[in-house]
Amino acid sequence: GNGFDRELRAPICCILGHVDAGKTKLLDCIRRSNVQGGEAGGITQQIGATYLPVENIRERTFLKAEATIKVPGLLVIDTPGHQSFSNMRLRGSSLCDVAVVVVDITRGLEKQTIESLDLLKQRNVRFIVALNKVDQLYGWKTCPNAPIAKALKNQSEDVQREFKWRLTEVVTQLKGSGFNASLYYENRKVKEVVNIVPTSSVSAEGIPDLLLLLVRWVPEIMMERLTYVDNVECTVLEVNEDKDFGTTIDVVLINGVLRKGDRIVVCTKQGLVTTNIRYLLTPYPMKELKAKGVYKHHEELKAAQGAKIAVRGLRHAIAGTALIVVKQGDDLEQAEVAAVQEINKVNNLINEDERGESDDGRAIQAISRVKTCTEGVYVQASSLGTLEAIIEHLKTLSLDIPVSGCNLGPVHKQDVMKATAMLKRKEEYAAILAFDVKVMPEAFDLAAESGVKIFMADTVYKLVGRFTDHIKKLKE
Ligand code: GTP
Ligand code: MG
Ligand code: NA
Repeated sequence: GNGFDRELRAPICCILGHVDAGKTKLLDCIRRSNVQGGEAGGITQQIGATYLPVENIRERTFLKAEATIKVPGLLVIDTPGHQSFSNMRLRGSSLCDVAVVVVDITRGLEKQTIESLDLLKQRNVRFIVALNKVDQLYGWKTCPNAPIAKALKNQSEDVQREFKWRLTEVVTQLKGSGFNASLYYENRKVKEVVNIVPTSSVSAEGIPDLLLLLVRWVPEIMMERLTYVDNVECTVLEVNEDKDFGTTIDVVLINGVLRKGDRIVVCTKQGLVTTNIRYLLTPYPMKELKAKGVYKHHEELKAAQGAKIAVRGLRHAIAGTALIVVKQGDDLEQAEVAAVQEINKVNNLINEDERGESDDGRAIQAISRVKTCTEGVYVQASSLGTLEAIIEHLKTLSLDIPVSGCNLGPVHKQDVMKATAMLKRKEEYAAILAFDVKVMPEAFDLAAESGVKIFMADTVYKLVGRFTDHIKKLKE
């Protein structure tokens, strides 16, 4: 078509940045929610997805009613900024169309900001910089929900001077990372120069500007990419154990339609699994996919969307891989061929990476790999992503703690049984690190009897900290 009659899907936008830059708070401000306030330790430990319908976005901007928005909404992916969660940043940046890099204006570029910029550079992902926390500039007069140029005009000369100075600093730092950047409304070369939007996630200055860029500028620069197609393109984002639904997988549906009952082929650690979608769930619009809340049941779902799929036999699904739908009328063989290609791709990438020959190191890292050894602790978590983060964190410590086994979901007697194997091999590792999961009473009993230690905490860092404190005490 000529660009006017095409159907566009919602752009997938990944939020990246250093710890505490305000990524979750920014989304809370847009959603009018308080996800951040409910996070243990105020840190994000799970990748999330939220669908923002265009009506809600329109309401937040100052667009005239007749002004068109070509996309039906936005799918935003929230990621954690803490170091150990690079798996989730990789996964988010691998499947997004566009990114928002959140920078705290009072701190400038930090370690994970630079890591995020590198990821985006590698994958050629266009992005916007949200220069957040402008309300923290000394003497800032809040102008709730105001477009940023208007809010800036309202400030004293001192505030304007400090703003300019800090903006220049960030522009210089971005230049150091290889990006030319400019305040978006002064940007005359949007094709080459990165847009910066000053924002506050508390008083919402600049939020209308950011949303407008996402729904108006993004479709303009990637019309082709955002054109809806029927072929299903769907990626596994996360594997969870849910108390109501059993194993669920969070997926991002990038294109096409998913239907309840669809026959799907998924890559798992034990090879390809063919199964049916038992439940097709999404959170309500403007709500987080990862929040343990109320889900909406669907008969079918059209891209782009984040969804939770309940299935049997997918506990070992590999995050970062494609989910393949066996089309009606098509034979299973064809889908399996596609799935075999996917799993071969994964295996080849992993092997090449291990031999140090891969030219796409980033792609592999986006694919989940949990490595275990014969001697090590036992890790149990509610999701694959956090499991990986814990294992990663254990590895990066000076103590370098290996992992002998892991599992998703509540800690049962069998898990403790497995951990008892270390009592004879290496007693200090006879421990279960349990994150965000229930420990069954029988499991507690067996642990107490046998001498397996169970550690629990609400953040990955506290959990690992508790275990390492224990090790240090043993060594004294
Ligand atoms: P991680 O997910 O842990 O990487 O952090 P994050 O980037 O999601 O930051 P988060 O939303 O948790 O915000 C960190 C802290 O900064 C919280 O205390 C927020 O209330 C505060 N904060 C975030 N944005 C703003 C802002 O625009 N202005 C002010 N004053 N505080 C903010
Ligand atoms: Mg966060
Ligand atoms: Na935080």
